[in-house]
Amino acid sequence: MVARVIPVDCFDLVIFGATGDLSRRKILPGLYRRWKEGQIPEGSRIVGAARSEMDSDAFRAMVGDALSEFLPERELLPETVAGFLDMLDYVTIDARGDAGWPDLANLMRAGKVRAFYLSVAPALFGDIAKRLKERGIADRDSRIVVEKPFGKDLETARALNASLASYFNEDQIYRIDHYLGKETVQNLMAVRFANILFEPLWNAQYVDHVQITVAETVGVGGRGEYYDNSGAIRDMVQNHMMQLLCLIAMEPPSRFDPDAMRDEKLKVIRALDPVAPSEVVRGQYRGKDDDDYLTQAGNPDSRTESFVAMKLHISNWRWKGTPFYLRTGKRLRARASEIAITFKEPPHSIFGESNQWRENVLVIRLQPDEGMDLRVMIKEPGPGGMRLKDVALDMSFAEALGDDLDIPDAYERLIMDVIRGNQTLFMRGDEVEAAWAWVDPVLEMMEARGDKPESYEPGSAGPEGSLMLMHRDDRRWREIK
Ligand code: BG6
Repeated sequence: MVARVIPVDCFDLVIFGATGDLSRRKILPGLYRRWKEGQIPEGSRIVGAARSEMDSDAFRAMVGDALSEFLPERELLPETVAGFLDMLDYVTIDARGDAGWPDLANLMRAGKVRAFYLSVAPALFGDIAKRLKERGIADRDSRIVVEKPFGKDLETARALNASLASYFNEDQIYRIDHYLGKETVQNLMAVRFANILFEPLWNAQYVDHVQITVAETVGVGGRGEYYDNSGAIRDMVQNHMMQLLCLIAMEPPSRFDPDAMRDEKLKVIRALDPVAPSEVVRGQYRGKDDDDYLTQAGNPDSRTESFVAMKLHISNWRWKGTPFYLRTGKRLRARASEIAITFKEPPHSIFGESNQWRENVLVIRLQPDEGMDLRVMIKEPGPGGMRLKDVALDMSFAEALGDDLDIPDAYERLIMDVIRGNQTLFMRGDEVEAAWAWVDPVLEMMEARGDKPESYEPGSAGPEGSLMLMHRDDRRWREIK
């Protein structure tokens, strides 16, 4: 299958924090893959900038190692790798001082797109943005890319927005939520807005409830200290889950363009009701030795949640009365992210009481085994009258689109969109603030309640309380498998 790709202009991309984990694991391998596909024009350059003292050759060697570590061998063609490494330069830089900035300025060439990727602690965003602007390295057309965590509450998010806004305009700022770069997350929009089939039913009159699950098998591992200051609500709900919720719940935008999309998402966030204490369940995995949250977090008294389930209500005409249930957690039974839309019962059954009715459910599997599944009722084959049965109209994207389907990593797509100057899949400042404005009271309520998260077994489906959240409403979570 030959993909149609929108070409990009020649660019200089500077990665601050280029020696860090995200850069080695995602950003540089992602760029390599786009290079391999011929999508990066000759003459473009990638400049690593970090504190470590090294020269460009040492940086190229480091990147070569990172490619071997994080990409399959079949993708590493020697000539292609050499061409990619040739594109790289490195400057040792002090984000808060003067060292390295003149070298960086000297490396920039006129007439190219300039993008600055800040893969560094948010505390450095303002320092770097200031130096880029004041030293004339960034101009009116340059782009600046920032990563989560974008604040830890509304106040800190506002401060970050304000410090970036002192040097860059909103249309130059690209706030990454890598979930928006996932192919299947973009598919949510295609399913909703490129088909007539679902949209007429996509409202409280026909949808009983929506479940959004992002389950992970990994624990907090080596990130224990960071994670313990964050927890699942800040780490996953405020950003990734909120974005999924918005894509499911938003009104159709007039166009697939940045502001039309982001205006509609913002309206959803602003229409969210405050969550009642009884509608949030927090959990912590408690296992043996290393398989224990408290051990991994290095904090025996931690009250941070590694799992959260909550029930949300959206107060607008479309969704009033349809609950949205969210759950996400670490060290669960399986890695499975999906959205399930459960439809209501038909108003009248012509087949009589003896036929057991089952709901129609549309499941959009985000990862792994990306695909869609629609459960519909059919007649059970054979004699014996009209017996009904529910079956799955199941489509795996890999099967439907061919075995060689190569789903690009979210970062590949997002970085190329930065170069193209397309902000559709990035969060606007007001969107991030609105999400924090909704999350802050949830966090405060938890703080005030002061209880410990409920324990759950590593490898399970989460704490008992999460099951109860559904059972009380006479509903069930879909199995995590
Ligand atoms: C990150 C979180 O943003 O997303 C991690 O900080 C989480 O805790 C990760 O594991 C999940 O991303 P993915 O792409 O593996 O679903």
